[in-house]
Amino acid sequence: MGDKGKILLGLAVFVILVTFPFWSRLAAGDALPGRAELEYPTNSEACVEDTEYMRASHMDLLSQWRDDLVRDGNPDYVSASGETYYKSLTKTCMSCHEDRDAFCTRCHDYADVQPTCWECHTTPGGGA
Ligand code: HEC
Ligand code: HEC
Ligand code: HEC
Repeated sequence: MGDKGKILLGLAVFVILVTFPFWSRLAAGDALPGRAELEYPTNSEACVEDTEYMRASHMDLLSQWRDDLVRDGNPDYVSASGETYYKSLTKTCMSCHEDRDAFCTRCHDYADVQPTCWECHTTPGGGA
């Protein structure tokens, strides 16, 4: 290998090390628990949006719902499939996802995220 090759190799190693926290996070995302490990609602077939979208973007959807409802007083969410949902964490999400521990929390533990929502919001039926 010539000097140029060594420099390029060094640069490649450097870039990988520096960006490690970002792509290791992404890789961890791919390894989130699968269907077998999570409790899915038994009272419905589908989520407000498709599974792929929910998995990647439920946090953004929730902040959007909060802002729309609390700031703009707009309670109606119309999904891609044309269904209307009330923009509420407790009344909508948790009415289907009844077992928070076995769904939300189980996945968040894997991903090492601790949403603080439950300091104020309650889950029907309780839960930690
Ligand atoms: C009408 C019932 C219902 C409502 C309301 C609902 N969900 Fe779901 N959700 C489901 C079902 C059923 C699935 C599994 C869909 C499937 O078969 O893949 C799901 C899937 C998901 C997933 C993907 C899980 C995975 O496998 O990766 C996430 C995340 C999620 N929901 C979060 C939420 C959040 C947050 C809300 C509120 C904004 C919400 N859900 C509202 C029924 C619901
Ligand atoms: C399949 C895995 C999975 C499931 C199931 C899941 N989440 Fe999440 N959630 C994540 C991941 C991963 C993040 C962190 C995303 C990031 O930081 O980019 C997250 C982040 C969040 C955040 C933002 C937290 C913050 O501090 O910014 C909220 C709020 C949230 N989830 C709510 C829920 C609720 C409510 C449910 C259950 C209805 C749920 N999630 C189910 C994987 C999941
Ligand atoms: C310090 C207390 C507090 C925390 C923490 C908190 N909220 Fe809220 N949230 C409120 C209050 C108060 C309202 C207004 C309730 C109303 O108007 O009915 C609200 C309203 C909302 C709404 C719309 C109304 C509803 O019934 O859900 C959403 C969605 C929401 N919050 C999501 C979240 C999410 C997601 C988190 C965590 C990332 C969170 N909140 C954390 C206090 C809090």
